[in-house]
Amino acid sequence: DDITLKSATENNFFVGVAVSETRTNLPAYDEVYTREFSSITAENDMKMASIFTGIDGSGNIIYDWSKVDGLIAYAEANNLNVHGHTLIWHRSLPQALENFAGTDQEFEDLIEQYITDVLTRYQGKINSWDVVNEAIDDDPNIQWRNTIFLQRMGVDYVEKCFAFARAADPNVKLFYNDYNMTFDATKRGKVLTLVDDLLLNDLIDGVGYQMHIDYNFPTKQQIQDATDDLVAKDVLIHFAELDVKVNAANDLTELTEERAIAQAQRVKEVVEIFNAIPQSKKYAITLWGLKDNDTWLIPENNGRPEWPLLFDASFNKKEAYQGFLEGL
Ligand code: G3I
Repeated sequence: DDITLKSATENNFFVGVAVSETRTNLPAYDEVYTREFSSITAENDMKMASIFTGIDGSGNIIYDWSKVDGLIAYAEANNLNVHGHTLIWHRSLPQALENFAGTDQEFEDLIEQYITDVLTRYQGKINSWDVVNEAIDDDPNIQWRNTIFLQRMGVDYVEKCFAFARAADPNVKLFYNDYNMTFDATKRGKVLTLVDDLLLNDLIDGVGYQMHIDYNFPTKQQIQDATDDLVAKDVLIHFAELDVKVNAANDLTELTEERAIAQAQRVKEVVEIFNAIPQSKKYAITLWGLKDNDTWLIPENNGRPEWPLLFDASFNKKEAYQGFLEGL
C-alpha cells in the first residue's frame, strides 16, 4: 500500500495542502505532509497581516519574514512546490495600513513596495502567488468589493497589483483567487472578464477556484461547467482551498459512515473533473488543511461541527482520501 496522493497524480499536477509553519515542525504533521503532498500553501503565514508588521519612522515597511523563511526552507528540504497565498486580501490588513494617514499615492506606493519586496525576496522559491484574493463583489450589480484598496487605489487597483507583481518578478506565476465560482455564474462571469482584461497585458497566469463545497452542493454539472469556462481561457487552473462540508443541515454530531461515503463520492467527482482538464492547464488541487480538527470550519466560525478534510483527527485516511485516489 505504497500509493499516496502525490504518487497517484503521477506528477500531472500538484496536490497541495494548507499548512502552518508551526505544524511543519511537529513530527506527526511532517510525516503526512511529506508523504502525501507535492505542494504547500500557508493557511495564514504568508498573508499581509502576518508579514507586514508596521511602518517605521522613515516610512519604511517593517517585516517579519520568520514564518515565511521557515516554510521556504521546509519546502526546499522536502522538494515541495510553494503556492503563495495571498499578497492582497481585504481580510488580512496590517494595522499600520488600516490606520495609514498618508495620501492615496503614498498608500499605493506602500502596496507596490510590499509586493516588490516579497516577490524579490522569494524569487525562484515561491512558484506562484494569489496576487489578489476575493476582490469581486457578491452583489451581481457591483463589480468590486468595497475595500480599502478600492478606496485608496481606485477601480484599477487589481490590475495595478498584478502589474507590480509582474514587474517585480517576471517568472513567478500570478493567480487570481475567489470563492463561489462553481455555482454563482454571475460572479464567475465577472472573474472571467477580469481574466480577459489581465490577459490583454499578459498580467495573469492562473485562476484559483476556491472549493469550499458541500457533499451535496453544487452539482457535479455546475462544477464541470465552471471548469469548462476556465479551460476556455489561456490560464492555469487551481482548485484551491478544497474542503467538503457534510453537516450544513446540522443533523450530525459525529461523522457517520453513510455521510463519509457521500463525501468521498464528492471528492472523487471534483478530482475527476480536475484530472480531465487539458494537461497544460492543470496546476494544482489544494486541500484547505490536513485533518478534520484543524479546519477553519470550527463551530465558532461555522455554527456547527464539520469534518471536511481527507484525514481524521488522528491522522488516519478517511473515505474521502480514497475518493481522491478514485478520481484519478
Ligand atoms: O494565531 C492566532 C492566535 O494566536 C490567537 O489566539 C487567535 C485568537 O483569535 O487567533 C489566531 O489567529 C487566527 C488564525 O486563523 C490562526 O488560527 C485568526 O484569528 C483567524 O482569523 C485566522 O483565520 C483564517 C482566516 O482565513 C482569516 O485569515 C483561517 O485560519 C484560514 O483558514 C482562512 O482562510 C481563508 C483564505 O485565506 C481565503 N479564502 C477563505 C478562507 C476561509 O476563510
